[in-house]
Amino acid sequence: MKISQTASSKISLDNSVKQRFQIEHLLIPTAVVSSTAGTDVVQGLTQTSKTLPPRYFYDDRGSELFEQICELPEYYLTRTETGILQKYAHEIALKTGACELVELGSGSSTKTRILLDAYEEQHLPLRYLPIDVSGGMLENSALALLKDYPSLQVHALAGTYELALAQLQAKELASRMICFIGSTLGNLNSQECEVFFSKIKDALHVGEYFMLGVDLQKPKGILEAAYNDNQGVTAAFNLNMLDHLNRRFNGNFDTSQFEHCAFYNTTKNQIEMHLRSLKTQSVELATLNLKVSFTKGETILTEISRKFDIQVLQGELKAKGLEPVKIWTDDNQFFGLFLCQLQA
Ligand code: TRP
Repeated sequence: MKISQTASSKISLDNSVKQRFQIEHLLIPTAVVSSTAGTDVVQGLTQTSKTLPPRYFYDDRGSELFEQICELPEYYLTRTETGILQKYAHEIALKTGACELVELGSGSSTKTRILLDAYEEQHLPLRYLPIDVSGGMLENSALALLKDYPSLQVHALAGTYELALAQLQAKELASRMICFIGSTLGNLNSQECEVFFSKIKDALHVGEYFMLGVDLQKPKGILEAAYNDNQGVTAAFNLNMLDHLNRRFNGNFDTSQFEHCAFYNTTKNQIEMHLRSLKTQSVELATLNLKVSFTKGETILTEISRKFDIQVLQGELKAKGLEPVKIWTDDNQFFGLFLCQLQA
């Protein structure tokens, strides 16, 4: 008797989860994928100042290391943003009312739970549209959420932000909020940032919301520590990109002959993450038919992380019609959470 009860409740749970879950794989035409695979690597490594695209950070190992970065004592960003969300999620839910959440780069959706809890406590309907390039990650985190929130509807979109923003279907609730948290905006340069804001604007209707979490300018010592942790996790994360390229493009980068290097550029207000060659060497990526030489001390720029000034960013958002209706920070003013609304 006990067994059959457990079995039947399991079946009904599975059914209810299935009915509340949709995943859409946004397609990039195969021809485009195969003809462009690796051209960004070739382009970056053949420039005078070498660069590599940050997207190569995120293979399975990279995603795992990134989760570890978020837990580091020196990496105050995740903790601080979580604190702000915990403190103000109710106010956000009160302001927006019934509102579906679209999240760009949803990852494990940990911070999203804080918002979902706030909407749930106000008895508002819950609908969530996570967007991530990793379909596996999307599915796993969506299933976990669906089990914990029995009235939640999830419509996951596997693909890039650009594709997803361009293909968002009509909303089902009264309003919609696009969330871009974790200071990922800082990983775009100012030109990319401007293009990104235009895409957000085009994806929203008047009166809908954009929630943005960004890291703020602060003393250099605090910033540099956050990207040079004592345990060397950020270094491992940065160097993992070379392992990833080796696997992907049949390469022979020797990771022991490169070192992680991250510093704050006070002119540009950005952390710059590099991989520095420890000797004169040449590296080959066979699949890309590419041979690259490095002088001793030469670096590859792998990521920028811009740090923002509240007033300046407020002006930039306003200029795009994304009016900041409320801006929250923590007591130290380390991190900023902007709730913007699209103006007519
Ligand atoms: N966007 C966050 C930041 O800029 C997270 C992040 C992206 C990050 N790439 C990183 C953190 C590389 C450490 C290293 O901080």
